[in-house]
Amino acid sequence: MKLEGKIALVTGGSQGLGRAIALKLAENGADIAIVYVGPDAPAQDTAREIEALGRRVKTYVCDVRDPQAVDAAVKAVGEDLGKVDILVNNAGVTRDGLLVTMKEEDYDLVLDINLKGAFHMIRACYRDFMRKRAGKIINIASVAGLVGNAGQVNYAASKAGLIALSKSVAKELGGRGVCCNCIAPGFIATDMTKDIKADNPLLMQVPMKKMGTPEDVANVALFLASPESDYITGETIRVDGGLAM
Ligand SMILES: NC(=O)c1ccc[n+]([C@@H]2O[C@H](COP(=O)([O-])OP(=O)(O)OC[C@H]3O[C@@H](n4cnc5c(N)ncnc54)[C@H](O)[C@@H]3O)[C@@H](O)[C@H]2O)c1
Repeated sequence: MKLEGKIALVTGGSQGLGRAIALKLAENGADIAIVYVGPDAPAQDTAREIEALGRRVKTYVCDVRDPQAVDAAVKAVGEDLGKVDILVNNAGVTRDGLLVTMKEEDYDLVLDINLKGAFHMIRACYRDFMRKRAGKIINIASVAGLVGNAGQVNYAASKAGLIALSKSVAKELGGRGVCCNCIAPGFIATDMTKDIKADNPLLMQVPMKKMGTPEDVANVALFLASPESDYITGETIRVDGGLAM
């Protein structure tokens, strides 16, 4: 198996895209640390599924906005499972609204979780990556970060920032064998997009005329976590049915 002996930490790994990514990495041999906030039941369900695949798994309630909590969670993963080899920064939220009505706290919350949370995680993991002279960082951005989106100034800014952060990390750590890449999903069927129905005109803008699945994103995450992508860094791969081409 491609990821045998590897430890993967997936933020927001309890549900949605993070769950699909955690399961895909586990199916391919990785042991999994799930970092999440919110309801415990989805995290425990995902953990049980990973255990059923014969992999080790631990769950950690940790708000990625809190640098101390992030450092403590990464330390605990090291003690429980081993040092992280693959970091997937997937935790993310939306607080949509047009610019004229956007509340200051909604702008800050989205930036703090989607962008600063990834910074906290990378900062907590990079020394171990440098020591091993290996590491895979996969940041889940969005097509909104590539082309913008009306009603999402906060979200689009957070994801554009994540793409630029990833390129900068790729430049800083490339010489140490660390790859840092982004995935930019379009419309993917999860809780976050549950209000978008199949007949929504938004989907008509997608050349492939349908939503993607969490599995579509997880397949690309597997590629970016695997040795097959060892010479790819600073890249953003769209998984969007052609939406943002
Ligand atoms: N679903 C889509 O269509 C879509 C499209 C583009 C990008 N994305 C991105 O993919 C990622 C996952 O989206 P999803 O649809 O699976 O979302 P989701 O709402 O189903 O899951 C979000 C996850 O993030 C975690 N999380 C939220 N705030 C957190 C915090 N402060 N600290 C730690 N964990 C936190 C939650 O525990 C949960 O596991 C997000 O970054 C999102 O922006 C999703």
